[in-house]
Amino acid sequence: MKANTRRDHRLAFDTVAEAYDRARPQVPADMVDSILELTRLTAGEKVLEIGAGTGQLTLPLRRQAGVKVIALEPGKTLRALLEKNTATDAMVTVRGELFEDYDGGDGPFAAVVSGNAFHWVDPRVSYGKAADLLLQNGYLVLLWNVPTVEDQALRVALNTRAFAGHPDFVRGEDPRVELLAADCVEEINASGRYEAPRVEQRRENLSFTPDDYVTLLISYANAAVLSDGERRALVEGVRALLGEHGVDEVKVVNALYAVVARRSEQ
Ligand SMILES: C[S@@+](CC[C@H](N)C(=O)[O-])C[C@H]1O[C@@H](n2cnc3c(N)ncnc32)[C@H](O)[C@@H]1O
Repeated sequence: MKANTRRDHRLAFDTVAEAYDRARPQVPADMVDSILELTRLTAGEKVLEIGAGTGQLTLPLRRQAGVKVIALEPGKTLRALLEKNTATDAMVTVRGELFEDYDGGDGPFAAVVSGNAFHWVDPRVSYGKAADLLLQNGYLVLLWNVPTVEDQALRVALNTRAFAGHPDFVRGEDPRVELLAADCVEEINASGRYEAPRVEQRRENLSFTPDDYVTLLISYANAAVLSDGERRALVEGVRALLGEHGVDEVKVVNALYAVVARRSEQ
């Protein structure tokens, strides 16, 4: 994904922190396995995570890799939930700085990782600063996921009715994550600080109750920045359509991609 042009929305997630914690999926185990295979991260090594949310990447990374995670989460409410979710884990340190403001004092790091957040960081800073904070053979690992409603008739109805006026929610059948990954690869290559990146892709099937699907939608920045009235109208429109289609389970295909790049020698 390319750096976001609406960076003024980057902290909007904090207003929907509970929804975020409830509905956003964790990174699946097989994706984390692939990342560990590519980066050869080992238990006890230090990893910096940018924009940790409530732990969607932090928790699987801790479970599967045993690495020590310094997790940056600038949103106060998100951070409180992340602290709660990692309360019993001494190997996670939660900090409140934006990546741009972080002094790097806990580093250098074996990896700098980020799930669904690196596009919110100032692109004039992001790739260069991450490289500066990495060990000689360290890795930048950037993940994103794109959930798409599986049922075609329901997806089309949502796109044309409930999401009319909300183009960021509109999804085609195939979210073309390879193009999104290619944008990120291009930015990494242009930075001149990394070796040629590797891209990993996965798809997983998820299932949401209507309530949880609505909660998932309102956890996105483009819903979080709406007025209360606009958000209510969006939610009511979605609920009405799910009702019309007799849906009691919303099946979603979650397409994930990870871009993994080793810091190049200077
Ligand atoms: C879409 S959420 C991603 C949360 C989680 N990592 C995930 O994969 O679901 C983006 C997160 O990045 C944080 N964020 C936005 N700009 C940031 C920045 N410049 N530095 C660090 N975190 C940032 C936000 O507070 C938010 O929690």
